Amino acid sequence: MESKEKFAPPAEFAAQAHVPSFADYERLYAAALADPDKFWAERAGDLHWFQRWTQVCDWSNAPFAKWFVGGKTNLSYNCLDRHLPTARRNKAAIVWEGENYEQRTLTYQELYRKVCKFANALKGLGLKSGDRAIIYMPMVPEAAVAMLACARLGVTHSVVFGGFSAEALKTRIQDLEACLVITADAGLRRGKEVLLKPAVDESLADCPTVKNVIVYKRLGTLTQMKSGRDHWWDDLTTGISEECPAEPLDSEHPLYVLYTSGTTGKPKGVVHTTGGYLTYVLATMKWVFDLKEEDTYWCTADIGWVTGHSYVVYGPLAAGATTFMYEGAPDWPKWDRFWRLIEKYRISVFYTSPTAIRAFIRQGDDFPNGHDLSSLRLLGSVGEPINPTAWKWYHTTIGKERCPIVDTWWQTETGGILISPLPGATPTKPGSATRPLPGIVAEVVDDKGEPVKIGKGFLVLSRPWPSMLRTIYGNPERFKAGYWSRFPGKYFTGDAATIDEDGYIWCLGRVDDVINVAGHRLSTMEVESSLVRHKSVAEAAVVGAPHEMKGEAIYCFVALKTGVNGSDALVDELRDWVAHEIGALAKPEKINFVAALPKTRSGKIMRRLLREIVTTKSVAGDTSTLEDYGVILKLSQEGKEEEEILGEKK
Ligand code: PRX
Repeated sequence: MESKEKFAPPAEFAAQAHVPSFADYERLYAAALADPDKFWAERAGDLHWFQRWTQVCDWSNAPFAKWFVGGKTNLSYNCLDRHLPTARRNKAAIVWEGENYEQRTLTYQELYRKVCKFANALKGLGLKSGDRAIIYMPMVPEAAVAMLACARLGVTHSVVFGGFSAEALKTRIQDLEACLVITADAGLRRGKEVLLKPAVDESLADCPTVKNVIVYKRLGTLTQMKSGRDHWWDDLTTGISEECPAEPLDSEHPLYVLYTSGTTGKPKGVVHTTGGYLTYVLATMKWVFDLKEEDTYWCTADIGWVTGHSYVVYGPLAAGATTFMYEGAPDWPKWDRFWRLIEKYRISVFYTSPTAIRAFIRQGDDFPNGHDLSSLRLLGSVGEPINPTAWKWYHTTIGKERCPIVDTWWQTETGGILISPLPGATPTKPGSATRPLPGIVAEVVDDKGEPVKIGKGFLVLSRPWPSMLRTIYGNPERFKAGYWSRFPGKYFTGDAATIDEDGYIWCLGRVDDVINVAGHRLSTMEVESSLVRHKSVAEAAVVGAPHEMKGEAIYCFVALKTGVNGSDALVDELRDWVAHEIGALAKPEKINFVAALPKTRSGKIMRRLLREIVTTKSVAGDTSTLEDYGVILKLSQEGKEEEEILGEKK
């Protein structure tokens, strides 16, 4: 993984950057460390506040933080109204291209009017501050409109990725006790209609709290509407006022809940609030993406993920930037679609995932080389470790050795980017997210929580930061136990990392039961619970195995019920079962049938051993607590066969 190479920021880039030298970064870092309250108050000053805060950070009830205590603000106001008295009013806020080449541009003024109209429609349905709404939409501008309209009224939104199943949608609606679902008839993916409304209908059979469903007509697909509950977006917003004042909301008002996988079978609702979140996201737009008025910025993430929240919608719009959105797949109709879009819209800042980069590499250089990529000035990566080979290809073939690369480390829980180079300031090393941003105290610690000077350990955050999650929705105990108990007083990220002689951090991936498949976060327990719900399965254990393209892939060890025999047909059935229960992204790569799972004497499945089998194809370490060593030997043998299969695949 590690590369010894170091790349200085290109002089031309540094000359124009917001933070133009490493000394400037260090000055900012030192200022934030010395007086965090003053530092963050200055950043918050870039926003509009209806009422100024009385205290910057209240950490007296740790780990439950409050930022900008007593302040009143509104995200929608800061993303829209704040720009209208300036030249940005007729600047493109969102430029969008559908997979079918449809194009739309919404200026700040147009976006403002759409958001106000939709917010008035929500009011008309009786929604008010404190209510919760689910957004289950394709990548269309209306998804951003829905988010901004909710934020305008103080309705807490929860965006559920359109690729999640009806079952996954249902558990989120139930946990949140949402009263509204905003959806679309369908979206487009690889030329096919992906139906969304039927999944909503299926999930709502068990969700009595939902009183209304709003349906945006994206494709005009034949859609069943339930009278009294379902409303067309256009019907609700026609002839309605284009003015809707933004609610002055408490700085700690919950802006959104985003469900993500933890170490149990039940996804957790990560709660983000208002003032601190926006302050941090706006600051990082400037530091990390060096955003300028003339940039056309494209983050390829779906709005269903945190990256889509912070760096497709809220960050860029708060910064008054032009944010580009694309609806479909990178390989549709060919593998050059992204490069075509960059050329056509003159994208200047491009932010994507290592999995996408590895997929592009595999398709060969003719695709990018066939397009004019000279508008690019900065490249970003997020979601998983980027291997040096992928980094260098990105640097050479896409960036033409001209564009700095920002490898940004962060999490759903952190709300914004925490570890990343500043493109005009920080020398980069391929594979390392480099140094923490100003205001972030990231440390690599050993088992006992002692800082490691150089070497491997656990990645922790030692001080609160404005965009940190505030709790787990409805489960403060899980918040405390999950993040704050392993190393008292410090936030445990769940990641292992090394720190080198320059203080650079190299994230090595998760050390818990979370796996990262193609940049999508999944819990092994979620897949296990799904498998054991199948009638043929007695027990299941799931681990992540290294995968050339996806980073990690899902490997399942399944013990079948007595009398059931394993077959290829059953493998297919189980893979489809999980995909149906959770979503296509959770479809297992491999299912191994085993006689029994390795367990400790107390009955705990020894996932570490299974992980070792799929990673190294052999078993080492302490197996003295194993109930049945024979099972391990058998699994280990199967692991070896597995290696041969994997070898063939390569
Ligand atoms: O393991 C780290 C990995 O992704 C995890 C967070 O996943 P999620 O909450 O889904 O958020 C993804 C988008 C922010 C982290 O715990 N991760 C994220 N970024 C990087 C990374 N690993 C290495 N390098 C990164 N740049």
